[in-house]
Amino acid sequence: MTKRYITTAIPYVNGEPHIGHAVDYCLADVAARYFRMIGDTVRFQAGTDEHGGKIFQKAKELNIPVEEYVAKNSNKFKDFIARLDVSYTDFIRTTDKSHEKAVQEIWLKLKKHIYLAKYEGWYCTGCERFITDKEVEENHGVCPDHQKPYERLKEENYYFRISDFKEQIKQAILSDELLILPDFRKKEMLRLLEESPDVSISRPKSQLTWGVPVPDDDSQVMYVWIDALSNYITVLGYPKKDISEWWPATVQFVGKDILRFHAIIWPAMLLGLGLPLPKVISSHGMILADGQKMSKSIGNVVDPVEVISKHGLDAFRYFFLRHIDTFSDSDFTWTKFEEAYNNELANDLGNLVQRLATLAAKNNIVLDSTQVRDFDIEYKELMEKYEFSKAFDYVWGKIQGLNRMIDEEKPWVLAKNGETKKLDVCLKKLINELLAVNLMLAPFLPATSNKIGEIFDGQVIPPATPLFPKQ
Ligand code: MSP
Repeated sequence: MTKRYITTAIPYVNGEPHIGHAVDYCLADVAARYFRMIGDTVRFQAGTDEHGGKIFQKAKELNIPVEEYVAKNSNKFKDFIARLDVSYTDFIRTTDKSHEKAVQEIWLKLKKHIYLAKYEGWYCTGCERFITDKEVEENHGVCPDHQKPYERLKEENYYFRISDFKEQIKQAILSDELLILPDFRKKEMLRLLEESPDVSISRPKSQLTWGVPVPDDDSQVMYVWIDALSNYITVLGYPKKDISEWWPATVQFVGKDILRFHAIIWPAMLLGLGLPLPKVISSHGMILADGQKMSKSIGNVVDPVEVISKHGLDAFRYFFLRHIDTFSDSDFTWTKFEEAYNNELANDLGNLVQRLATLAAKNNIVLDSTQVRDFDIEYKELMEKYEFSKAFDYVWGKIQGLNRMIDEEKPWVLAKNGETKKLDVCLKKLINELLAVNLMLAPFLPATSNKIGEIFDGQVIPPATPLFPKQ
């Protein structure tokens, strides 16, 4: 039995979950459900990233003890994931004592690649990273993501010698031993790797207190990335346990904004620890709201709970998994969302189920147990390349095809003419076709797929209310 380990980025807990955070979870959940469906055993991590200056600052502004603040917000993310019906198996908080201890051990294991140095350079407090002179010049001294001027910073930090691993990482990426998806991001990462300097991995305690202390040096605290990236293995029990049952990860899902950390620092850490590299890192695009980056200051942050409460979870999953392209930036607008709901979920799928179930019940069609059929090869290939929005398009094409088949075969005419034998054959064929499609739908819309399975289980019982009432 194949074992699969799937991971998601762990969000910072200095804000509420928003629709952007849902992307990692939904994609990882589709992968997890797909692998389970083909008989694999899946371990699926989620969690929260709870250290760092910004979080500390936020708690201070709110006058709440930082431990309390992170615990409260971590729970909000946990609730959110549950609300999305994400089938994770492990949840990690970077403030878990076991994680903190493991991260210190990881630091010590990496020690021969770590050195102390003074650095002066441009820094963005929003990105929490030093910026190259070239980038500063290109952006005219202001961070385009945070609209804040870069600051000049001089400090003593520990550095991680990325140069020790560059060649190995490059070869792994080039050979797809570490497959970076999509391909255009892989090329971008190879360029970035070439230019990548050693990275600073600690901050003086005078600047940052809310973090894992650097072992053997009281004056420094670990900067978030070593701490955060380690979660993927500490959650499995590293370094105390042998993690080879689950590691390397089958696939790690991250947003494009944090791919550079996952494609450069993370592989360097793993190589330094003597661990294998993940098989795939899949990076998704950003969700924009009405064509703009979502931000509290613009006031266009879309609350996922509002979307789910209004239209139901599967409508949410439908939009974010089909209409939000898996790899590029996509736009959320309420108009697009509502159109997709009414025209596609309600019309294409809801009506199809209702029509077939009503006809079958009226004509006393009893279904034999469904023949198990292999998935369509096109679907399987897309799913295994993690091209989920395309795989979902494929499934939807099948649903629309079934609607056309009903219109052509007109089973209601057969019923009216009393052609019972023909009607029986026709409806059974259509329903079996629907059930085959329904299986392919399951990783995307698990609850709906379940309901459809129940409706057509033996004696057909049409749903009392449509699966997706028009809104
Ligand atoms: N804490 C880090 C991740 C550490 S992983 C070892 C972080 N947190 S985050 O809260 O800023 O982002 C968490 C995830 O949500 C990332 O994968 C990020 O790309 C994703 N998204 C945040 N906003 C998003 C959108 N507007 N759209 C799509 N994904 C977005 O980075």
